[in-house]
Amino acid sequence: MKKVTIPALIEKKKKGIPITFLTAYDYPMALLEEKAEIDIILVGDSIGMTVFGYENTLPVTMDILIEHTKAVRRGAPNCFLVGDMPFMSYQVSIEEAIRNAGRFMKEAGCDAIKLEGGIDVIDRVEAIVKAGIPVMAHIGLTPQSASLLGGFKAQGKTAESALKIIKDAKELEEAGAFAILLEAIPPQVSKIITERSSVPTLGIGAGPYCDGQVLVVHDVLGMFDAFVPKFVKQYANLNRIILDALKEFKRDVEERKFPEEKHSYSLPEEEYKKLLNLLKDLQ
Ligand code: KIV
Repeated sequence: MKKVTIPALIEKKKKGIPITFLTAYDYPMALLEEKAEIDIILVGDSIGMTVFGYENTLPVTMDILIEHTKAVRRGAPNCFLVGDMPFMSYQVSIEEAIRNAGRFMKEAGCDAIKLEGGIDVIDRVEAIVKAGIPVMAHIGLTPQSASLLGGFKAQGKTAESALKIIKDAKELEEAGAFAILLEAIPPQVSKIITERSSVPTLGIGAGPYCDGQVLVVHDVLGMFDAFVPKFVKQYANLNRIILDALKEFKRDVEERKFPEEKHSYSLPEEEYKKLLNLLKDLQ
């Protein structure tokens, strides 16, 4: 797979070739996503829910994401890798935002970072881009502000709120964002944003008109049942396959069907006899 770059992503938008985008949190999944030639991988703060079992993304820290992002980079050297700025890694000050964005690039080998928010984070986006770090913006449903938004709810469902999202997108592009992720907004709104922006739009629950589509890989593979949003398409049910395998292992062990001879190391007959003699001397 050829290394995916920002110019390559912009070229796809220009040519109308859809961009593919998934999350990954570890080395084995990254290997597979690179093999599948997925354009962009996000090591998302959704790891808090899909891997760590929290109810939301807020407890996720920089240190957690850096370690997981390093593993993903090792598995997917050519996908465009985005580190997700966790809650409170960019809100407190511009300096902290730049320092934490820098960690994703320096320690984890990312190609870009992503952060949530519209006009309210413009100064962060400008400062991080000025430091030489590409920024993917994330608007619409922003899970880090779910409490403020009244839950994990679709956004932009009134003309006024849709207009606010459209304005956010324009300002973020002007601030230097190289791409805009649109989460849980009506297709009419993402169509307007996509047509008016020169940078790629990447939709999750934002309809078919975006320049690319992103999903959480655990949702795609049927590995996360706690909460399945309306916009998810499950392409496999790995939970069922894994559960069946685990049950079969348990049954095999309990019924002494595993391990078989082929799973065991052999001790030559002579050595075994010798061992039995040695054991006699021990008594
Ligand atoms: O953390 C995440 O998985 C996200 C999704 C919107 C892709 O931000």
